[in-house]
Amino acid sequence: MLDAIGASPHGLRLPDRAELSSIFPRLAIDQADAAEIIEGWPSPTKDPEIWWLLERAYHALVSDLGGIEPLRWPNLPPEFGATGRFFYVYLFLAALGDVRAWHERRGIPDDVSWTTLADLGRNLTRDRRLLGDSGLRTSAWLTLHFRGVIYALGRLQFNLSRFQEGPALGIHIPESGPLSPEACDASFRWAQEFFPAHFPETPWRVGMCYSWLLDDQLAEYLDERSNIIRFQRRFRIVGEGSNGDAEILRFVFKRIAPDIDELPQRTKLERAIVAHLRAGRHWRNRTGWLPL
Ligand SMILES: CC(C)(COP(=O)(O)OP(=O)(O)OC[C@H]1O[C@@H](n2cnc3c(N)ncnc32)[C@H](O)[C@@H]1OP(=O)(O)O)[C@@H](O)C(=O)NCCC(=O)NCCS
Repeated sequence: MLDAIGASPHGLRLPDRAELSSIFPRLAIDQADAAEIIEGWPSPTKDPEIWWLLERAYHALVSDLGGIEPLRWPNLPPEFGATGRFFYVYLFLAALGDVRAWHERRGIPDDVSWTTLADLGRNLTRDRRLLGDSGLRTSAWLTLHFRGVIYALGRLQFNLSRFQEGPALGIHIPESGPLSPEACDASFRWAQEFFPAHFPETPWRVGMCYSWLLDDQLAEYLDERSNIIRFQRRFRIVGEGSNGDAEILRFVFKRIAPDIDELPQRTKLERAIVAHLRAGRHWRNRTGWLPL
């Protein structure tokens, strides 16, 4: 399949090393990751196989600027070492100029552009913490950022998406402090101005969210005034959802398949998650929508 894609006719260019000291902080890439990224820096002569893949992935990514479906590509096998673990970082660095130009053509303010793309660094930090090793595994999610279809607008992120056959804005909640109703109101107001101004061709009338945060069972444990409960009350829930045990454990405890007897029990939510699972019950990811 990759053979059919071919390399980009425009050629692949990674940023010059001299530019990296200004690019890394803007992408929230911390010093530990920056050092490893530079150490594994690929070249066509040193890493012909990786370079071959990189050219094709780059071509597929930048030919689909504005594409709303996440591009799901596999991680490289461990024998490719750090260069393989950071493969998708090199891909996104190669596409940085393309997505920045796309943002400029759409009139996206510079601060929104950089804040949005800085999710790259945050995901590197998250993956290191979650998996105990450096590298980027959340590449499908970031193909939205580097094709210009997701934007960080204050507390929430919004992506161009579809819901029930029509255009919709996907709503995402990054981990960045409390989910206060005021901050959410401000984000929704911003989105209502931002998308008609920068993407006037599509009339988005609904927002939708798929998350453990919308599980109505949380109301059995959290106060009515809690930010999570107030957030979920904004949405009309549809469908049955799916098992959300893995997601809630990953997002709240930053662990994959933990022993629940060893989890911290400091907050109401932490205690709720464990009590619920000990009772033999399950958490759910639910889908909700709201008019915009
Ligand atoms: C979404 C989020 C910001 C909500 O936090 P919040 O605004 O503090 O939420 P609430 O006011 O409803 O908190 C209610 C209780 O749960 C606790 N709580 C909420 N989120 C928590 C978390 N991630 N870890 C531990 N405890 C948490 C609060 O401390 C509070 O308990 P307390 O009264 O004992 O202190 C937070 O859970 C978070 O950052 N999650 C990670 C991102 C995420 O999951 N995104 C969705 C992906 S699908």
